[in-house]
Amino acid sequence: MKNILVTGGLGFIGSHTVVELCKNDYHVVIIDNLSNSSIDVLDKLKKITKKEIAFYEDDVCNKEALKKIFKKEKIDAVIHFAGFKAVGESVEKPLKYYRNNLDSTISLLEVMDEYACFNLIFSSSATVYGKPKSLPIKEDFPLSTTNPYGTTKLFIEHILEDLYTSNNKWNITILRYFNPIGADKSGLIGENPKDIPNNLMPYILKVVTKELPVLRIFGDDYDTVDGTGVRDYIHVSDLAYGHVLALKNKKEGLKIYNLGTGHGTSVLELVKTFEKVNNVKVNKEITKRRPGDIDACFASCDKAFKELGFKAKYDVEEMCLDAYNFIKKNTN
Ligand SMILES: NC(=O)c1ccc[n+]([C@@H]2O[C@H](COP(=O)([O-])OP(=O)(O)OC[C@H]3O[C@@H](n4cnc5c(N)ncnc54)[C@H](O)[C@@H]3O)[C@@H](O)[C@H]2O)c1
Repeated sequence: MKNILVTGGLGFIGSHTVVELCKNDYHVVIIDNLSNSSIDVLDKLKKITKKEIAFYEDDVCNKEALKKIFKKEKIDAVIHFAGFKAVGESVEKPLKYYRNNLDSTISLLEVMDEYACFNLIFSSSATVYGKPKSLPIKEDFPLSTTNPYGTTKLFIEHILEDLYTSNNKWNITILRYFNPIGADKSGLIGENPKDIPNNLMPYILKVVTKELPVLRIFGDDYDTVDGTGVRDYIHVSDLAYGHVLALKNKKEGLKIYNLGTGHGTSVLELVKTFEKVNNVKVNKEITKRRPGDIDACFASCDKAFKELGFKAKYDVEEMCLDAYNFIKKNTN
């Protein structure tokens, strides 16, 4: 497998994965419609990797555009990141999420089938575990969702299972990501959402750069170490490397892996670490719980370690340093 099509390859996780793919001598082809990314990222990727990267500004829902790529590029495997991911917006505009996330996936699978490309890695999420029965979360835990975004991920997982059942030629890896933060060491690429961020780290960054006045912490009465929510933060470059390992995996069929660190960090712990390593203050206030949030969520990474050899190497301090380094280099 040499030629890898990366859908959504200019986005946060996609761009970091492109870096890891290039480092490992894969030839990368990106399709992205720039709905949540900027074309500048392409130049930055070329600067970091010093490699040729083919880019198509197109929508993955558009089968004709996909066919052109498959005809021209001889794609061996696809990593499918493209999709919308904002939980809150998905509650307000569910159809937008069902349309984009499902349509893009079905179009992609149909075109892959037509061009006999059966190798797929799909970006799923820890959100498919709903409220986990215990911790750490293992891949065989029951699945449920609490918002339309999560439901699109779960539907797609079901589609992929049905597809594999229909034809065992498919070689599918479902990766359930926990909470990716941080940025590439170069500081050239990272996460800087255009709108008000949904996730903690981009929110912290916007407060530190004074684009937002205060970080609201939703609840300090959870059953956790300090009452604030606990999540499994993973450096985006570690997560990205997980995709290289998934491509190299000798095991065939349909496989599902958690990608996290296996450690939980509370909101307050993350904020304090950010303040300490970057020597800045984060203006914060505690407000009431946000509906749908759970106490704690962290992964069991045993399966990914055993079958892929995956182990995150960066700690939370490094994640905070790299996230801030990216913002310092990319804001005035
Ligand atoms: N970031 C997280 O915390 C997280 C956690 C779990 C799962 N995921 C999943 O990982 C994937 C990547 O997430 P991300 O954080 O990099 O998001 P992102 O929004 O930064 O990247 C997604 C990219 O896909 C593009 N895109 C969206 N719809 C498209 C379409 N129809 N055609 C072409 N391009 C399209 C966007 O322009 C963007 O560049 C998503 O599927 C997301 O649901 C993300």
